[in-house]
Amino acid sequence: MQQRHSQQGHSQQGHSQQGQGFATRAIHAAYDSRDEQGALTPPMHLTSTFTFESVEQGAERFAGEAPGHFYSRISNPTVATLEQRMANLEGAEAGLATASGMGAITALMWSLLRPGDELITDSHLYGCTHAFFHHGLTEFGIRVKHVDLSQPAALEVAIGERTKLVYFETPANPTMRLVDIEAVSRIAHRHGARVVVDNTYATPVITRPIEQGADFVVHSATKYLGGHGDLIAGVLVGSVDDIHRVRLTGLKDFTGAVMSPFTAFLIMRGLKTLEIRMQRQSASALEVARWLERHPAVERVHYPGLTSFPQHELARRQMSDYGGIIAFELAGGLEAGRRFMNRLELIQRAVSLGDAESLIQHPASMTHSVLSPEERAEHGISETLIRLSVGLETPSDLRADLAQALKVRA
Ligand SMILES: Cc1ncc(COP(=O)(O)O)c(C=O)c1O
Repeated sequence: MQQRHSQQGHSQQGHSQQGQGFATRAIHAAYDSRDEQGALTPPMHLTSTFTFESVEQGAERFAGEAPGHFYSRISNPTVATLEQRMANLEGAEAGLATASGMGAITALMWSLLRPGDELITDSHLYGCTHAFFHHGLTEFGIRVKHVDLSQPAALEVAIGERTKLVYFETPANPTMRLVDIEAVSRIAHRHGARVVVDNTYATPVITRPIEQGADFVVHSATKYLGGHGDLIAGVLVGSVDDIHRVRLTGLKDFTGAVMSPFTAFLIMRGLKTLEIRMQRQSASALEVARWLERHPAVERVHYPGLTSFPQHELARRQMSDYGGIIAFELAGGLEAGRRFMNRLELIQRAVSLGDAESLIQHPASMTHSVLSPEERAEHGISETLIRLSVGLETPSDLRADLAQALKVRA
C-alpha cells in the first residue's frame, strides 16, 4: 500500500551510501536536497492532508498502488525522512515514527499480539512498559511471562508454542542489567518467536540489535535521539512487511500515536550530533562512575564500563561503548540518598535521560513508582537506587557537584 511508496521516487539513501560511516549517515541518509529546492535541512511539511490530481489518483494511493502521501496520520514526507534515516542507522529495512516511546511499544504490541498469545519479557523493564504489559495486555487475554533474560538458558525453559514475542531492554532501565542479544535471539527464533529490543539506553551508536539477530528495535526518541530535552517521541524499526503492518493497524487505527513533522525535524537535528554526544557522554560517565566507585559514601555503582560490573565481558563484546547512564546506591540508604539529591546544585533533579543537562532521579519514588514494592524487588530496583544521566557538562564540574552533595552527613 501507500507506505511502501512513500519515498516519492527519491533516493532512499539521499546523499549518503550504506557503506559510509555512522556520523555521515546520521547527517545525510534518506535526504537529497535536490528534491526540496536545494534546502540544506529537510523542510517541515506541516500539512495534515495531501491533494489528489484526480479521484483515480486518490483511489490508487489509498489502495497502495501508487506512491504518494494522503494523510499525515499514516505518513508525512518530513516524518518519512526521519523513519528512513533511523532504519539506516539501525541497519533495518524500514522505520516508523511515533508520538512517544510508549506509542511505539503499544502500536507494536497491539499489531502483533492476539488473545491467547504469550509475551515473554525480561524482568528488568522501564516502569510504564511494565505497567502496559501487566495492566494493559493481560486485560485482553495476552499472557505475559517474566523471565530473567540475562540468563539465556532461562528462556529455553520458559518459551513455549504460544510465545510470539520476546521483549527486553539492554542496558535495562534503571538497573543497567544487560541481555545477550545474539544468544536470546537464537533461542527465540528456534521456537518461532520474534525479538524486540528497547535500544533507548545504548542507541545505534553503541549497539545495533538487528545486526545481532533481533527483529524489532524500539526507542524512546525523547532521550538520546532527540538529545535536547525538548520533545516526546518514539521510533520503531524492523522489516518492510512488519513496519507496514504496524503502520496500518497499530499506528493508524489502534493508537493514532503519530509523530508531528516538527518533532521529526527536531529529532533529525539531534541525530546530526548523536555520535559525538554519545562518545562524550560515555567518556564522562566512565570518569564519574570510577570516581563514585572510589567514594566512601557510595556503596555500589552499576555501570557496564566498570570492571566490577558483573556483565562487563558481555558489555565489551556487545557494546562499542558504555553509554551515559549510571545507577548507584549510597552507604547511608534512603535518607542519605534523599539528602544527597536535594543538595545537588548543577545536576538537575528530573526524570528522563540523554539530555545535554545531567539529570538525576530516584526510581522507587519516581519512574518505577507504578510498581509495587514486591515488583520493584523482582525488577532488581532497591529502594535506595539512584539513577544519574550524565550530560554534556564539563566532567570536573559534575564531580565537584557530586562531591559537595556527598559530603553532607546526617
Ligand atoms: C527504556 C525506556 N523505554 C521506553 C520509554 C518510554 O518512552 P516515552 O517516555 O518517550 O514514551 C522510556 C521512558 O523513560 C524508557 O526509559
